[in-house]
Amino acid sequence: MTSPSSSLHVPDLIRQKRDGSEHSRAELEGLILGYTRGEVPDYQISAWLMAVYLRGMTPQETADLTLVMADSGDQMDLGTLPRTVDKHSTGGVGDKTSLILTPMLAALGLTVAKMSGRGLAHTGGTIDKLESFPGWTPELPEDRFLAQAREIGLALVGQSRDLAPADGKLYALRDVTATVDCLPLIASSIMSKKLASGAHTVVLDVKVGAGAFMRTLDDGRALARAMVDIGTRAGRQVRAVLTDMDTPLGHLAGNSLEVQEALMTLRGEGPEDLTELCVALAVEALAAYGEDPAQAEARARATLADGSALAKFRAFVGAQGGDASRVDHPERLDVAPGRAEIVAPASGFVERIDALSVGRAVLVLGGGRERKGEAIDHGVGVELLRKPGEAVQAGEAVLRLYHREGRGLDAARALLEVGLTVTAQAPQAQPLILDRVN
Ligand code: URA
Repeated sequence: MTSPSSSLHVPDLIRQKRDGSEHSRAELEGLILGYTRGEVPDYQISAWLMAVYLRGMTPQETADLTLVMADSGDQMDLGTLPRTVDKHSTGGVGDKTSLILTPMLAALGLTVAKMSGRGLAHTGGTIDKLESFPGWTPELPEDRFLAQAREIGLALVGQSRDLAPADGKLYALRDVTATVDCLPLIASSIMSKKLASGAHTVVLDVKVGAGAFMRTLDDGRALARAMVDIGTRAGRQVRAVLTDMDTPLGHLAGNSLEVQEALMTLRGEGPEDLTELCVALAVEALAAYGEDPAQAEARARATLADGSALAKFRAFVGAQGGDASRVDHPERLDVAPGRAEIVAPASGFVERIDALSVGRAVLVLGGGRERKGEAIDHGVGVELLRKPGEAVQAGEAVLRLYHREGRGLDAARALLEVGLTVTAQAPQAQPLILDRVN
């Protein structure tokens, strides 16, 4: 290991943060870039992360940390593309929003040139969902990526470039030092990747609830404000919507099943919650480009009613090698043949279908991965035949499992039974969109 630059005395920086002082941009650069280059060891950064966890960071410090992390590797230059938009969700269950929103944005005349991730643990990933189309590839050379974004308005690739490598290293260390759930570290981690990805406008969907990183609305608001503040200081337009993630979005969770539901929504026949969220996020993107919200909402809805968003999606799947005929024949997507049902234990109203339980059930059926790089079964998943608030009779099916030869079925059943509650009284309706921050 080479020694860090002579002006950097890491124990002093740890001491400063331990005692609650604010770092300068130059100090953060020395520390974080030194760590990324392997010049500052894990044990010193571990101590520093814990000091940040306990003492926090000022908004200026958080923005500086984010910029240093964004500058630590490759940066996408989208400057030649018109009206670029990126979208990020803090992770949910049954969240197929990107599949619907991104072609809507393309149909609205915006450009989405986006990097997306794969699923990990109980949350799904857009790349895994798109791989339900045989032949579809998340790997495009940069010139094709940019050309496709210019022609169709939509190109989506996996995270192949070395974007924000400082974040990758810091996240791995946070994971083993109990410093993941720290607001300035989460906000800077997410935003460093968004800044390095190059879009002018970023729309954030901050999930709140049982299936989300942020369990309470106050915590979700604080994270949204921190990320919007970072973006503003970096000269980007960032707008956030806070949404409920106590229960999965839409009716289907699992890769091919979610694609089928996304296609229904793109045909204007999707579930109301999912449609509302996609329209709300599209309105935020258009508002960032100065459009009046009422007009933006009408235009966004029209892309689902007139088939223009579906046409963009069809062109996008085909351009990246996928079998676009399945866009019009979703029944040809691979869905596992096994079926099992969870029934209501009593008559009454569905009070809760816990998002985390559904996400874990998909995982144990084989539809998700515990570790990076594991293969997944695109065809398995869970269908919500009833949603919270709906009436049920004892013995009536509430959830349907799609399984492959019984793999993981008992464990999935157990998870879903614990996550389902039925009560005599109708529960209070919970709004999907809880707040907006911009
Ligand atoms: N997602 C990220 O990318 N980083 C975090 O720190 C938390 C969630």
